[in-house]
Amino acid sequence: MTATIIDGKAFAANLRERIGAMAADFERQAGRKAGLAVVLVGDDAASQVYVRSKGKATLAANMESFTHLLPGDTTQDDLLAMVDTLNANPKVDGILVQLPLPAHLDEQAVVDRILPSKDVDGLTPVSTGQLALGLPGLVPCTPLGSLMLLKDQLGDLSGMDAVVIGRSILVGKPMAQLLLDANATVTIAHSRTKNLPEVVSRADIVVAAVGRPEMVKAEWLKDGATVIDVGINRLAPEGGAEKGRLVGDVDFAGASERAGAITPVPGGVGPMTIAVLLRNTLVAAHRNAGLSPPESL
Ligand code: GUN
Repeated sequence: MTATIIDGKAFAANLRERIGAMAADFERQAGRKAGLAVVLVGDDAASQVYVRSKGKATLAANMESFTHLLPGDTTQDDLLAMVDTLNANPKVDGILVQLPLPAHLDEQAVVDRILPSKDVDGLTPVSTGQLALGLPGLVPCTPLGSLMLLKDQLGDLSGMDAVVIGRSILVGKPMAQLLLDANATVTIAHSRTKNLPEVVSRADIVVAAVGRPEMVKAEWLKDGATVIDVGINRLAPEGGAEKGRLVGDVDFAGASERAGAITPVPGGVGPMTIAVLLRNTLVAAHRNAGLSPPESL
């Protein structure tokens, strides 16, 4: 069979449009715009591109954007002071510190300093605990975006067998929690998992988030499985190309002959991340202003 290609780009564009309208409503009710602050330390080229596009998307969704570009030799104390300033600023509803940070900085300590009410990345211990307990909080953007695509594709996920490959704090672990909350039967596989192809072959839903180019092979998949590919890997340049090709963690060409539905790379999960970041910012803004977030957010 030939898989349905899940168009994350179109889904994200639609979501951003709806968020923009809800952000305009928020401004009318609260008398101010929702605000998102993004902090980048150092001059990593890929991170600069991400941070710039987050800023643009924020403005396009009728929200205020605060971008702080700090030098690569910023100290831990200076970065914590920046987080404190943003925590205290009533115009800032969400704070995202772009990861990874330069090696001399303590990532967890920086994330821990963000007020849980402004933790639009969902990475603080409070947010992580709320997700584990099934309490309303802020959920990491990439897994929430992946869940939205899955529900759009499959409807009710109840009783489905889901395999999440990868156990990162940013994607794998929260993804598993969200699937569990949606009543799927969830397996978390990782680098020490025995017989990964056999584990994957049982899954109705496969979420690949390992960061290894085209690691998941078409033959591993159950016929008709739904495949969410979170990987973004740039291959080495070939044949004089200036930049190598972007590929996911799944062998897309093969898998799209076997899966029922699959996300492409690029244009699948990637665009969802920013859309959900805007969604989380608007949810935080409502709560920070003492308003209930719209049901449809
Ligand atoms: N770097 C890559 N993805 C992310 C993300 O979702 N949040 C943060 N803070 N940094 C990232």
